Amino acid sequence: MATLVFGAQWGDEGKGKIIDLLAEEADLVVRYSGGNNAGHTVVVGDTRYALHLLPSGILRPGTRNIIGNGVVIDPWHLAEEIKGLRGLGVPVVPGENLLISPCAHMVLPYHKEQDRITEEVRGKGKIGTTGRGIGPCYQDRANRTGLRMGDLLEPAYLKERLTAAVVWKNHFLAGFGHPPLDADRLYDDLRAACAELVPAIQDTSLMLRRALRDGRTKVLFEGAQGLMLDVDLGTYPYVTSTSVAAGGVGGGAGVSPRAVARVLGVAKAYATRVGEGPFPTELTGPEGAMLGERGREFGTTTGRPRRCGWLDLVALRYAIEVTGCTELALTKLDVLSGQPVVRLGTAYEIDGRRHDDFPAGLPGLARAQVQYQEMEGWTEDLGAMRSFDELPAPAQAYVERLERELGVGIPILSIGPGREAVIYRHVQARS
Ligand code: IMP
Repeated sequence: MATLVFGAQWGDEGKGKIIDLLAEEADLVVRYSGGNNAGHTVVVGDTRYALHLLPSGILRPGTRNIIGNGVVIDPWHLAEEIKGLRGLGVPVVPGENLLISPCAHMVLPYHKEQDRITEEVRGKGKIGTTGRGIGPCYQDRANRTGLRMGDLLEPAYLKERLTAAVVWKNHFLAGFGHPPLDADRLYDDLRAACAELVPAIQDTSLMLRRALRDGRTKVLFEGAQGLMLDVDLGTYPYVTSTSVAAGGVGGGAGVSPRAVARVLGVAKAYATRVGEGPFPTELTGPEGAMLGERGREFGTTTGRPRRCGWLDLVALRYAIEVTGCTELALTKLDVLSGQPVVRLGTAYEIDGRRHDDFPAGLPGLARAQVQYQEMEGWTEDLGAMRSFDELPAPAQAYVERLERELGVGIPILSIGPGREAVIYRHVQARS
């Protein structure tokens, strides 16, 4: 029995917190895409944990965490992340509560350099990547020149593959005046960085297939980024390099896509985006700045301020439809408190033509004029409320309106950063 949690907007929807809540019941939590471009924040008591590569179940004792084959792993970063968590008292034991697919690709220092150079060359057309080497690593995966975690189990093979890769990388880097890399040194550094990770490298696909077959193990698939950043379905080319939602889980975790019974999308009560690219409901004036400030909208990974705007129902409905989303968790509803009116983007107009459905693949998206509908705002602080009935009437109306417009129930409302700041509702999931 498996549940999948994915971001239904441009990432940063608050998936970390929702996954942490659901992980209490889960036996296995599985990342299946992205890398340390992701940043999942979980607040427990007074401690704020920022997770990038480790699945959010790592904070729950008894939960096993899998980094699936679809994830790209920067081993230096992972080793640091583990060290950081241990420093906060969280036990991370490779081979026990952390398992890594041998098919997961490694992000190497030259990928980061390539990411930086490529963005520089793009100039005005830059994507605004996180600079973590994610795109170049996936590029090598598709090009069959990548190195995988399983290669660490056969040092001679690893060295051969790395040496061959470095020849190509040095050609590329020389074109930009970069001194050549030394394959032997890189090999030694890599082995040292990975020493502790080796016991975690196991056949995670097999483990998952067995777990799903037994029918009793509760599996939670943890999406990274958001649907609008999906390499195919998002606002290409301003996207990340993977299939981020339900479509990515089969190939990214080595399981049947039919294993997932429940597809839970996570969306903020408004919208944000980091990096470049079209964002139709963006608020560039003081209203956007106010949302950014109230919502503490700074990237967990890069610290960049996030662009803020109203909730975009056109994009969100699209995300729900293409992922087979059965229900939604709505986060940061508390941040909207104090807005005299709240707006919902309900249609676009591009070059005089109205679009009720998201115009995927249309370069003119950047010129979209959004048609809004207004709703009454509320002023109350929602942070301490624990039931739907306690919410002010306009906030209840907002949630119910979203359910009607989107055709899915919203059983989880997050109204603050802490684990306890949540309201559960009984609503029918869409089958
Ligand atoms: P990359 O994934 O680093 O190549 O970046 C590509 C685009 O995806 C950029 O606009 C990033 O800001 C965005 N992005 C990547 N990961 C995340 C995330 O976890 N949250 C929000 N945006 C992200």
